[in-house]
Amino acid sequence: MGIKCFEELTAGMILASDLKASDGRLLFKAGTEIEARHIELLKRVGVAEVDVEAGACELSDGMLLEIEDYVRDFFLYVNPDSEPVVEMFRISLALTGDAVARGWCLPDIIQRRASNVEHMEDLFLKGMGSPETIVMHEAELASFPDIYFRIKEVLEDDSASATRIAKVVSTDMSLAAKLIKLVNSPLYGFPQTIDSISRAVALIGAKELSTLALGISAINYFKDIPPELVDMKKFWRHSITCGLLAKILATTQTGLSPERFFIAGLLHDVGRLIMFKKLPYASTEAMLFARENSIPLVEAERSTMDFCHTDISRPLLEAWKFPEGLSNMINFHHNPMEFPNPLEPAIIHLADNLTNAMEIAQGGMYVLPGVDEQAWEILGIQADPVLRDAVEQCQEQIDTILGAFF
Ligand SMILES: [Fe+2]
Ligand SMILES: [Fe+2]
Repeated sequence: MGIKCFEELTAGMILASDLKASDGRLLFKAGTEIEARHIELLKRVGVAEVDVEAGACELSDGMLLEIEDYVRDFFLYVNPDSEPVVEMFRISLALTGDAVARGWCLPDIIQRRASNVEHMEDLFLKGMGSPETIVMHEAELASFPDIYFRIKEVLEDDSASATRIAKVVSTDMSLAAKLIKLVNSPLYGFPQTIDSISRAVALIGAKELSTLALGISAINYFKDIPPELVDMKKFWRHSITCGLLAKILATTQTGLSPERFFIAGLLHDVGRLIMFKKLPYASTEAMLFARENSIPLVEAERSTMDFCHTDISRPLLEAWKFPEGLSNMINFHHNPMEFPNPLEPAIIHLADNLTNAMEIAQGGMYVLPGVDEQAWEILGIQADPVLRDAVEQCQEQIDTILGAFF
């Protein structure tokens, strides 16, 4: 961060704080990227100094090479000639270059690996638990939030009135508050403020709101996962980003209701949460194995545990009696073509990869799992500009949507 005199200003710099005129009038908000027309205006109003963010500096050729090496590391596992992969590589390179120019340091190999895992003791020894027994054990221990089942009941009841739905959701204050924040976020983009659950039901529909409530109450179940095991903020950021991208990408297809994709993306890695809870040592081992061998986490899970997080989500979502359409998107997000109707899981599959590509510039830990060529084809998307536009839209909205959750 630094104060620049007017003469030093160049287009592309970012305002570090709100810029006000001498009479106190707000000219531009913090975070605005300065454009040539802004400089003209500032000259006219006689602004002498401007507080701009550090960086936006020129990157040396050596640094550009280092960035390219760093980003390439995440693409080792995937087909470098695949159309979406080429575009994702470009996106990651641009985002990482941007982050470094603003002062972010590329993490070294030690920082990219978790350490100190000896204190964790699994409830199951490796080889002693199948996904079904792990989930069964979990279901026995679970005191799943009561609100979840009450919402499910109204969701399944076609005759449930909007008032009844609003009443059920409103009994859980924190859930209702989160929902209100979400429906007022760019996720829905309503021009007016929605201040009650019944108004939200009227605007976005009973089914939609109940599904959203169901997803949020399921998340609550995992709030006690120890922070030393996994950075839950990062986990949810990954999940919410995937949900948002999935929703944006779903709009490229006809006849889909994009909102469902947010929930599926939000919960796509839910199997991993059960692993963190039940197999902390084995899941950490999988994370280390993935990094050390530059393979996707899902492959590392299969190598170290003989099953992966979608093998866990399958019996889990069944036990929760989660809506089938959403469960299929979640359960097949790593292998969409194995599902008879692959279009919906293919969207989560693509969104997950794109999320990983975006995370590289935030110190992402894992290589991209890769985009299935057939899944890509059935989506019929043009990588450029659709993926870049989706990332841009996501970047504009993500912080507000995250704010609704935390
Ligand atoms: Fe996954
Ligand atoms: Fe994921």
